Amino acid sequence: MIKLAIDLGSSVTKIFRIGSGVVLAEPSCVAVASGTANVKAIGEEAKRLIGKTAEYTTIVFPVFEADIVNEEMAAIMLSYFLNKAGVTPKLARRAEAVFAVPCGAQDELLDKYYRLGEKCSLGSVHFVEVPFLSALGQNMMLSETNPVFVVDIGGGSTNIAAFSLDGIIAGIGLNIGGGNIDSGIIDCVAEKFNLKIGLQTSEKLKTTVGSLYTSDNETFVVNGRDISTGRPRSVAVSSPDIYDCVKVFADKIIEYTSMILAKLPAEVSASVWRGGIFLSGGGGKLIGLDDYMARALQMDVTLADEPQMAVILGGGRTVGNDDILETVRIDY
Ligand SMILES: Nc1ncnc2c1ncn2[C@@H]1O[C@H](COP(=O)(O)OP(=O)(O)OP(=O)(O)O)[C@@H](O)[C@H]1O
Ligand SMILES: [Mg+2]
Repeated sequence: MIKLAIDLGSSVTKIFRIGSGVVLAEPSCVAVASGTANVKAIGEEAKRLIGKTAEYTTIVFPVFEADIVNEEMAAIMLSYFLNKAGVTPKLARRAEAVFAVPCGAQDELLDKYYRLGEKCSLGSVHFVEVPFLSALGQNMMLSETNPVFVVDIGGGSTNIAAFSLDGIIAGIGLNIGGGNIDSGIIDCVAEKFNLKIGLQTSEKLKTTVGSLYTSDNETFVVNGRDISTGRPRSVAVSSPDIYDCVKVFADKIIEYTSMILAKLPAEVSASVWRGGIFLSGGGGKLIGLDDYMARALQMDVTLADEPQMAVILGGGRTVGNDDILETVRIDY
């Protein structure tokens, strides 16, 4: 029997195989010939084409804001990734897989994941909500009596939840993530520098100079197109230049986190305040976000050692332990 954990992220798909560890992490996108279903490239190769293709190639993101919006492409993409990770269709039939799903995932989404499992020939599938996986991936000790609080910020979604092994006490799956910062940066650069930049460039700005420390002043040179003349132009963009749009996003996360904290019963609240907030997801890597949240919420915020891998590592821990799996999996 092969045991797998699969995190079909809005930005990055990750696959864990028991015995091997993380065997794949690739962008969740597919390049197709426009107007057809003819696939030209998948994953890393497809992402490289973003913004560089002529109009006859379209980049499809089968998972948008943590929802499977294109089941056919999701199946093509995941089958390709499984195969690339050494899980051939023949092996897949003998596989037991755990899918990471958003906090509060409804049956409609679980049905889509179920069908995806079938299309990819997976032997059996289970669903576990992201907050549990994030906590398990950070090696947190979960119990029935000791609630913990997790915030996972992905590319297209954010999961915020207080929970124990007994279940989610209060939680929410939001359709905002790091991608919202990227589009904010595009608008900000357009306004400040009269320059149009692409999504890849704005993501690069976010991960290199984006910071919530007001004292940071890194710069990164971007190439774009002058909005008035249409000519190519380069500009050095600094941390303060994009501070406002990074802050707008952080404030939104803080607002929702406060909302969930306010819903907690008194005893849970005491335990959560003692333990603090555990932050994961690629979006959690935004420079200074942990300190910014800690200051705003007056709570300890601990960033995972490997923020972007916490959920898939937790998936591995879950599929490798029948007791944990039985406790945290969704009844479907
Ligand atoms: N160093 C960094 N600083 C800020 N953001 C980062 C950094 N590295 C990656 N990211 C962002 O993390 C996001 C991807 O994180 P992750 O892989 O956790 O998302 P996902 O699981 O694919 O998406 P989701 O959970 O929303 O479905 C992207 O928006 C990416 O730009
Ligand atoms: Mg994720």
